[in-house]
Amino acid sequence: MKISPVTKIVGVFGYPIAHTLSPLFQNAAFKELGLNFIYFPFLVKPQDLKKATEAIKALNMVGINVTIPYKKTVLPYVDELSPEAKKIGAVNTIHHCQGKLIGYNTDGEGFINSLREEGRFEPEEKNVYLLGAGGAAYGISHSLIKAGIKSLTLTNRTKEKGELLLNHLKRVFPQICPLRFIEFHQRNSPTLLKETDLLVNTTSVGMNANDSLLINPEIFPRKIFIYDIVYNKNGKTKLMEVAEKRKLPCLGGEEMLIYQGAVSFEIWTKRKAPIKIMKKAIREKNAKIPYCR
Ligand code: ATR
Repeated sequence: MKISPVTKIVGVFGYPIAHTLSPLFQNAAFKELGLNFIYFPFLVKPQDLKKATEAIKALNMVGINVTIPYKKTVLPYVDELSPEAKKIGAVNTIHHCQGKLIGYNTDGEGFINSLREEGRFEPEEKNVYLLGAGGAAYGISHSLIKAGIKSLTLTNRTKEKGELLLNHLKRVFPQICPLRFIEFHQRNSPTLLKETDLLVNTTSVGMNANDSLLINPEIFPRKIFIYDIVYNKNGKTKLMEVAEKRKLPCLGGEEMLIYQGAVSFEIWTKRKAPIKIMKKAIREKNAKIPYCR
């Protein structure tokens, strides 16, 4: 990739940032399409987030991804929000367009696209069971409800946070589909799992190789689809290992990473993201990608 006087700059703000794989697959995608863009990782300290966001304009950058821990705190520093980001209350992509910073949230769209395109799983009319109520759970639950699921069951270790998400969804999507929260200690309910078509782990459990399973796999029904959005650098999460061993249809964190990044790529470049090239870039680094079908 040659840097020239007209090279366009995009990147990611995070803290920490050393673990990010986004530069790897985004730069591979720019190269593939012959786009004069460069994607850069920026370590932004919390006290510098406002200045860093203002610098997108000052340095005439095209845009930025925003990752942990800034998806919510960056909100006051953008000029406009997409309807989706506004509803979710979190931004993971900024586009510098006609002098304005527009905030988007591509997590949900990326999740659904990967589910359909990679998992060959259509969420419409399905019973979904979602673990966690953090930032990722908001975008994903929004996109699932919009995709027409039959029902959504949530659980979360901290009850208050789980109920906060439930009430948020009930407010944004009144009477769209049955939504309920179940206590964390009831998460292994065989009746619940029996009627689950799609189980999504949005908690951070699995990030460390030693993390134990949140759900007892013994009670997974035969056709349940498992989506563990956790990205584990060491390879597969335990949940993914179990799913593969049981030959269950499943997707893992790298799919989520690539597909949400692909939507950001398309916002910035107005070109179709070369998903295959993005996947290849990550596969070559990791030797294997934790997903199966
Ligand atoms: P993100 O923005 O990536 O979703 P987050 O907002 O920090 O990250 O949310 C992390 C999620 O993982 C939360 O649902 C958290 O549960 P709490 O609300 O109880 O904190 C969940 N989580 C993290 N560690 C967990 C653990 N050991 N067991 C169960 N849930 C856990």
